Amino acid sequence: MNQLAELRRRFAGADFLSFAELAPDFVAVQVRTDFSAATIALQGAHVMTWQPNGQEPVVWLSSAAKFAPGKSIRGGVPLCWPWFGPHATAATESAYPGHGFARTIPWELLDARMLPDGRVRLEFAPVMNDAARAQWPHPSTVKYGVTVGQELDVALATSNTGNIAFELGQALHTYFQVGDVRQATVAGLAGCEYIDKVDGAKRKRQDGAVNFTGETDRVYLGTAGCCEIVDPVLKRRILVTSTGSRSTVVWTPWAEKADKMGDFGADGPWKMVCVETANAADDVISLAPGATHVMSAQYRAIPA
Ligand code: BG6
Repeated sequence: MNQLAELRRRFAGADFLSFAELAPDFVAVQVRTDFSAATIALQGAHVMTWQPNGQEPVVWLSSAAKFAPGKSIRGGVPLCWPWFGPHATAATESAYPGHGFARTIPWELLDARMLPDGRVRLEFAPVMNDAARAQWPHPSTVKYGVTVGQELDVALATSNTGNIAFELGQALHTYFQVGDVRQATVAGLAGCEYIDKVDGAKRKRQDGAVNFTGETDRVYLGTAGCCEIVDPVLKRRILVTSTGSRSTVVWTPWAEKADKMGDFGADGPWKMVCVETANAADDVISLAPGATHVMSAQYRAIPA
């Protein structure tokens, strides 16, 4: 039986779910609740869309995103795992993909259920292929929970099932939809040290809210687990709360870099900003044998 037919058979009773093949060998699960709707690709367990009922989408998906096996999707919630950015030894191991392999390998939908309050919770686990195992030889398991309701709640749990500690870098690399990034700000990071990746990785300290006047690529360190995107154009705030994360990445490419990337669409660079719940740079996790680390993020849009 093909994958689509098998999923439809397994989740036949779940009328809050549907499945679609968006491109050859590229299947996504669509979730509808009384509060919001979401689409999640099985490749990368990648939340592609999330839209509360009666609102603009909160999660941005590029109109030029490519849906193809092994290619990362521009937009949504890419999972960066088990490293963030370039691999630590990338100079010698150039085949290691930036942001890790989790976002481009298939994941399995383990479970989907409606909770008593009407939210829908899905659980995914990666299907590790040989390349992934070669790049990540550490005995470990990963589970990813996605709960769709008035909020979108995503939680990535990594367990060390071996007997040697390992280092873990990760990010919930969420693209948020804004009316115009040139007018948006991000509050909640004032006073934090950050690594400015567009200024030679200089260490700086954030003064007030973050605003955007050009390409911005920063890893904020020691962040508190709560920040918000203030959007005067869509007249809303997007609240981002998190647990198990000590860094926050703020990224927006601006027109020239987005053009080079080729999958942003014409207006794309102005309509998005990434605020990523992460454990990156100084904040990578050392996971002891037998330990589990959960990094989670909750997103909610509030009319301003
Ligand atoms: C951000 C990084 O998290 O992701 C940027 O800080 C990077 O440096 C961006 O350009 C997009 O990465 P990718 O691999 O999805 O194009």
